[in-house]
Amino acid sequence: MILLSISIFWLSVCVYPISADPHITVEAHVGSTALLPCSLSKDFSKTPHVRWRADNEFVFERSFDGTHEGPGYKGRVDVPEDELRKGNCSLVLKDVRITDHVFYRSFVMEHVEATNTNKIQEINRVQLNVYSQRVSAQVGSTAVLPCDWKHLSIQTPHVEWRIGDEIVFERLGKESFQGEGYEGRVDVPEEELLKGNCSLVLKNVSVTDETLYSSYILMTDTKKPVLVQNIKLSVRELSEERKDDSSAPSGEADGMNLLIIITVCIMCSVLLIFIAIFIWMKYRRSSS
Ligand SMILES: *[C@@H]1O[C@H](CO)[C@@H](O)[C@H](O)[C@H]1NC(C)=O
Ligand SMILES: *[C@@H]1O[C@H](CO)[C@@H](O)[C@H](O)[C@H]1NC(C)=O
Ligand SMILES: *[C@@H]1O[C@H](CO)[C@@H](O)[C@H](O)[C@H]1NC(C)=O
Repeated sequence: MILLSISIFWLSVCVYPISADPHITVEAHVGSTALLPCSLSKDFSKTPHVRWRADNEFVFERSFDGTHEGPGYKGRVDVPEDELRKGNCSLVLKDVRITDHVFYRSFVMEHVEATNTNKIQEINRVQLNVYSQRVSAQVGSTAVLPCDWKHLSIQTPHVEWRIGDEIVFERLGKESFQGEGYEGRVDVPEEELLKGNCSLVLKNVSVTDETLYSSYILMTDTKKPVLVQNIKLSVRELSEERKDDSSAPSGEADGMNLLIIITVCIMCSVLLIFIAIFIWMKYRRSSS
């Protein structure tokens, strides 16, 4: 059971980024370690010169003369040398922070030519989605994605919930906007918003709603969006829910049942052999 779920998990992890986007998307919980995949499809006898950056911000660099870390990434990033020589240029990013979250920019891995350092080749881009909370909801139910803006000093709250760049819901006072596919299903009640509660109410949850949602408060004067919350919504199907709930005991029960069946089979076989021997001996005795 556990092995099966692990392999399904890995399968979805491997398949998802490729099919969803030409770029790779990695999701990570705040505080966890994220692996930003990268491959150079080549072995190196000498350590190649590689560089990871996030937009124009320098993240990490490794070359024959050591490593450099970007200012916001001190002690948190590495491309292990032994892996790099094998062509594995994956970035290990420890203690993931909400500020590592980059929607509008990606982590870019570059290979710098040894003989000509001006010759830089982009290898791949990884989008990192960092979330601080996970919310689980059942298909058809109503999910509440938590958000609180009380720590921000603004008078008139202007809230925006987005999936990437796409707006799901927006409210400023009485005026609100519901994004495509969310008509009649989403709201941040006005009275709650005024109290500092910017939680999104998402009705009639469907499987396609499973993704990462971000809430922003727009600053009154500049209209600059300030990221408040990143929430990962997981959607459970009804049948799946029942299976999930009883997975541990049913798994155990399945094992028990199997054991009982095997025992009964062995006992039956032994009994049959005894009966056969008994009949055969009786037959021999009566025929002699
Ligand atoms: C690449 O290296 C990372 C650690 O740097 C490791 O976790 C990962 O498994 C490696 N990937 C492959 C395909 O070897
Ligand atoms: C915030 O608002 C949501 C929905 O409007 C509600 O379910 C939740 O209880 C509110 N939270 C608090 C702390 O008031
Ligand atoms: C909920 O959504 C499904 C499609 O995902 C739709 O068929 C159904 O009518 C909706 N139910 C309500 C009560 O809006």
